[in-house]
Amino acid sequence: MRIAVLGAAAGGGFPQWNSNGRGCNRARAGDPQVRPRTQAGLAVSGDGDAWILINASPDLRQQIGQSAFLHPRDGLRSTPIAAVVLTGGDVDAIAGLLTLRERQAFDLFATKAVHDILAANPVFEVLNRQFVQRRQAELDRPMALPGGLAIELFAVPGKTPLYMETDDAPPIVVDGTTVGAAIVAAGRRAYFIPGCAAMTPALARRLEGADVVLFDGTLYADDEMVAGGLSPKTGRRMGHMSMSGPDGSMAAFEGLDVRRRIFVHINNSNPVLMEDSAEHARVVAAGWEVAHDGMEIIL
Ligand code: MLT
Ligand code: MN
Repeated sequence: MRIAVLGAAAGGGFPQWNSNGRGCNRARAGDPQVRPRTQAGLAVSGDGDAWILINASPDLRQQIGQSAFLHPRDGLRSTPIAAVVLTGGDVDAIAGLLTLRERQAFDLFATKAVHDILAANPVFEVLNRQFVQRRQAELDRPMALPGGLAIELFAVPGKTPLYMETDDAPPIVVDGTTVGAAIVAAGRRAYFIPGCAAMTPALARRLEGADVVLFDGTLYADDEMVAGGLSPKTGRRMGHMSMSGPDGSMAAFEGLDVRRRIFVHINNSNPVLMEDSAEHARVVAAGWEVAHDGMEIIL
């Protein structure tokens, strides 16, 4: 199986359009230690021919442009993208669907909760239902997809998308609004979990023995946006585990049998995006990699 990281940044991308932060400015200036990143998404393939996108970020048009394996090959209109699988209803996971209009056939897989969000937003009807089949993914049930791989969605702790929040503190729920994706082919098992509010015992059991886990790397420290004067919200409040701390992802993965652990969906405030930072050194010392656009994993 081939896994291509189309985008490694969280919502907003890196640099984010309105951020005057140090990391963003270094990325804008072309500093080789601080690489720009587009918003999170993967392309996966079992045969290198048919590709499945996991999430459609607002940067999808640029990501396809930069990825020759996703370019049309046959006739006047075609695509090697056979399906799109969504792990949530956040803007950074769905807005790129609008790029995939133009009467092109593909299957769109999501949980009922996420399909309901799309159905409530008529702009997504631009994906002509004559061509784009909206298919409901059942949790915990592997779906055989073109190219010889299977994807299984499973609920992880998360919250309602930001633009649908109705009060100050939406509860963290495990209801299929936020899911992880298991990608399985030829006995290999990889996971993509770009948003996760907590490590549960069930999730830890699921990840045991994985070849690769690409995991929520939104913030390094839970209070990093509050301390930086960027937002009143902690990572926990945004539905994201942070990398550091006793409830953080580095601690949660200690002792788990996971061959490669890779942070993805990294927020522009996160100092690990600066490869010469102490925080970057700490995650590397803990056995983690920091995803970047164009990273390819072959299993
Ligand atoms: C998130 O990951 O928390 C969301 O993408 C935030 C957002 O929609 O900007
Ligand atoms: Mn996000």
